[in-house]
Amino acid sequence: MKTLNKYLIAASFIVLLSACGGGGKSRIEQIKEQSKVEPSDPYENWKQFHGVGPVKAFTLPAELDQQLVAKGQEIFDTKCTACHKVDKKFIGPAPNDILSRRNPAWVMNMILAPGKMVQEDPIAKKLLIDFNGSPMANQNLTEEEARAVLEYFRTL
Ligand code: HEC
Repeated sequence: MKTLNKYLIAASFIVLLSACGGGGKSRIEQIKEQSKVEPSDPYENWKQFHGVGPVKAFTLPAELDQQLVAKGQEIFDTKCTACHKVDKKFIGPAPNDILSRRNPAWVMNMILAPGKMVQEDPIAKKLLIDFNGSPMANQNLTEEEARAVLEYFRTL
């Protein structure tokens, strides 16, 4: 009888141990997996992100187009200043140094397709978290208008 008891205790230990293992992975392995940090910071690697949306990667011409700047400023003043101030953080980020931290195509895609961007683009996803979940509004600009706003951003 005593030996049988010993066997039973030993057997339940084995059952318990394997239950804790969680599908073959040790507890330590599980903890390591849960606390895994992202291998790369999308903000730091901004150059490689062109965003998702209608605009494909492109290079800005060296010369500023002053007419386009004026048009962009007008659009920005009427459709964006509810949430963006040129030189300081407001409901959204300040756009004044945007081209030193975002690709031009990314900026246009963020203006034209913010909904898709926050779902699929790593920078936009992080931005949404940093701005406490308040989303960038789609102001239904045309591609031409977004390009004008981008030209205006170059002057800030
Ligand atoms: C209702 C508020 C709101 C309006 C209106 C709005 N935005 Fe935004 N915008 C945000 C917020 C909030 C963010 C950052 C959080 C996010 O992306 O979800 C953002 C992010 C951005 C970004 C990315 C900035 C960065 O540093 O990466 C750009 C570019 C931008 N907005 C441009 C515009 C333009 C251009 C307009 C006008 C056509 C506009 N926004 C109108 C709220 C707004």
